[in-house]
Amino acid sequence: MRAVMSKQPTIAITGANGFIGSHLVKYFSDKGWHVHALVREPQRQKLMHNVTYVSYNLGKMPNPDLLKDTDYLVHTAYIKQDRHHPEALQTNLQAAEQLIAMNSHLKKRIFISSMSSHGGATSVYGRQKFAIEKLFTSKQDICLRPGLVIGDGGIVKNMAKFMKTKHVVPLVAGGRQPVQIIAVDDLVLAIERSLSLNGCRTLTVANPRIYTYRQFYESLARNINTRVLFIPLPIWLLVVVVKTAHALHLPVSFTEDNIRGLEKLRSTDTTGDLKKLRLQPRSLEKSLNQPEVTI
Ligand SMILES: NC(=O)c1ccc[n+]([C@@H]2O[C@H](COP(=O)([O-])OP(=O)(O)OC[C@H]3O[C@@H](n4cnc5c(N)ncnc54)[C@H](OP(=O)(O)O)[C@@H]3O)[C@@H](O)[C@H]2O)c1
Repeated sequence: MRAVMSKQPTIAITGANGFIGSHLVKYFSDKGWHVHALVREPQRQKLMHNVTYVSYNLGKMPNPDLLKDTDYLVHTAYIKQDRHHPEALQTNLQAAEQLIAMNSHLKKRIFISSMSSHGGATSVYGRQKFAIEKLFTSKQDICLRPGLVIGDGGIVKNMAKFMKTKHVVPLVAGGRQPVQIIAVDDLVLAIERSLSLNGCRTLTVANPRIYTYRQFYESLARNINTRVLFIPLPIWLLVVVVKTAHALHLPVSFTEDNIRGLEKLRSTDTTGDLKKLRLQPRSLEKSLNQPEVTI
């Protein structure tokens, strides 16, 4: 790993190739920071100014020098629980423990959690986020719980593609679950600002406005100029559909755990947390109305 030659900080980002991680890599490297992009296959990455690719796998013991020259860590990487990764919860938890054990010298460690994280969560995803938050409790730690992230990737982009090709939207329990959103660029800003906050805390990063899932899908359909048919489905039936699709190796980007997560979604008053981050997140319409969200 490169020795730090200038006064610019060094930030390590796990999941650096992912939707949120790649935005962070670009943002901090454009600012002139040294970015250590932690990825599974560093040898296959495109060269980027100010970016050093470093090998990192959640399922393997990290190199003890992994974060030696680093000032800040943002942990975004996670393994999605599915039939290929039945042990995702344990692996993600163990990886977080290993990261924490090796980097007590850092100025700040940011764990990217989720609004699905809470004591009543039943999905593996929500439970694992809640369990990992409990590890990030020293004064240099911040846990951020983003709402549904809108940008050129992630679940929203997948959903837009699905709507454009299939013209249907399966609605779990009538689509009445609450959803709050955040544009990816606002989330990146929130992450940067949380690097200078004092003390350990958990903050939710989402626009305070609460939509139902149905309202959200209607806005998305309008934005991508597509007519869709809403099909209300009981949760058990949707689980059967997803399981069958996976068994037949059909390309479905949702898992049974995603569906179970929808059951326990909660809304949160985020105004206090946004104030601490000095963030005025853009609206749903403005977030969707960016060229990269449209296909
Ligand atoms: N997107 C959202 O709406 C949203 C909302 C709330 C919270 N979050 C949280 O934000 C974080 C990032 O989400 P995202 O949307 O950016 O997800 P993503 O695009 O799927 O990125 C996940 C990253 O994890 C990496 N990863 C997977 N398995 C790994 C392993 N075994 N070892 C090392 N890295 C591994 C992937 O690496 P490869 O590129 O090599 O596959 C990928 O870069 C996640 O923790 C997620 O829970 C996301």
